[in-house]
Amino acid sequence: MSKLFQSEKVGNLTLINRIVRSATYEGMCDAHGFPTDEYLEMYTALARNEIGAIITGFVYISPCGRAMHPRQGGIDEDAKIPVYKRMTDRVHSNGGKIIMQIAHCGRQTISKATGEQVKGVSTRRSFYFDSTPRQLTAEEALSLAQRFADAVLRCKRAGFDGVQLHAAHGYLVHQFILPSINNRKDILGIDKERGIGTYFLEVVIDKIREQCGIEFPLLVKISSGDDYGNNFTQEQFVQLIRFLDKKKVEAIEISYGTMDHALSIFRGRTVPLDIILKYTPKYKTGGAIGRFFRKWFLYPFVKPSLKMFTPTYNLSFAKIAKQHTKIPIICVGGFRTKQEMTDAIERNETDFVSLCRPFICEPDFVSKLTANQEYASKCTDCNICAVMCDSANSTRCYLGMIA
Ligand SMILES: Cc1cc2nc3c(=O)[nH]c(=O)nc-3n(C[C@H](O)[C@H](O)[C@H](O)COP(=O)(O)O)c2cc1C
Repeated sequence: MSKLFQSEKVGNLTLINRIVRSATYEGMCDAHGFPTDEYLEMYTALARNEIGAIITGFVYISPCGRAMHPRQGGIDEDAKIPVYKRMTDRVHSNGGKIIMQIAHCGRQTISKATGEQVKGVSTRRSFYFDSTPRQLTAEEALSLAQRFADAVLRCKRAGFDGVQLHAAHGYLVHQFILPSINNRKDILGIDKERGIGTYFLEVVIDKIREQCGIEFPLLVKISSGDDYGNNFTQEQFVQLIRFLDKKKVEAIEISYGTMDHALSIFRGRTVPLDIILKYTPKYKTGGAIGRFFRKWFLYPFVKPSLKMFTPTYNLSFAKIAKQHTKIPIICVGGFRTKQEMTDAIERNETDFVSLCRPFICEPDFVSKLTANQEYASKCTDCNICAVMCDSANSTRCYLGMIA
């Protein structure tokens, strides 16, 4: 049997195979961040499909860190534990393993969502979200680190098999890491030796371990590049891997980028320009004239800088990561066929593969792979599912549908 379908451990957790469903925003929670029945049903159905581990969409640890997406889940209060527990019970009774992804958006949100001024690592604005962040004081940052730990304890009580700390895609933890955003002069600033900001991440990890025990699986998702003018270098990426190695987290998932250049995170074969102009808050303004201008005058300038889809597009970074740690590496981004997944694992370029869009398109993708060696995902990477996260719709596949 190919290694892809052999069981493997992440900390004390045994996964039935090496395939992970990567974090995917659901858009299935109510206005207060409580999961709805639709959320429970979706995860119950996914659990029936022989996926090694399922990672939830990003969930906020504090209302001040909510996303602009209107139907995001929260794990910010004990009152939410029972509903998540109902979900994890159902996942377990259907043979699944489920890990919650926890996050604080930092500057990547809008005050309409958080109900207060957006807080960031620094006052540097995000191009996409356009909010002027207020710089967190050191005291506030440390209290948020405690809120991360409180959230993890809730996850543990709610029956999750582990948590994944979202330290990628430009959210708060990532903002602390990146020299292009973190210009602080206090202890939370850039570590001189490493060239990246690790202090906040270290406090968060230490608090989680102290409060929830070292046996509760803690995974971390990171980005390998940032696409800002002053790019995150390979040396800085290696420093981050070495740091996480030292902290002995249970697994590291390798992704890419920030939400300022979201199409570098989930790359497409084409760009769903009309859908973007219709639904994305930043680009739908200005009525028909605004859309016309963006489509015919602005977009041609932006287009050459967009990173387009290539299969397994983050694998080169996973390979580098594996040279610097024995911690299991999970690689996400552009896995669409069994051959790609098998090759990456057999060649020891990653320990696990992780997929998002193929599972939105076909929740039973793994079962189909088991039945047919040659099966390839039907996902066309149209990215409409990603653009529609900004709408009030539940996340779904738009293949062959008009949005
Ligand atoms: C609709 C949608 C929602 C996503 N939500 C999240 C999320 O909540 N947290 C996260 O870390 N990544 C999120 N991602 C990124 C994916 O986890 C993944 O890194 C990316 O899509 C590349 O993997 P793929 O090529 O298998 O789709 C999302 C992507 C899409 C398309």
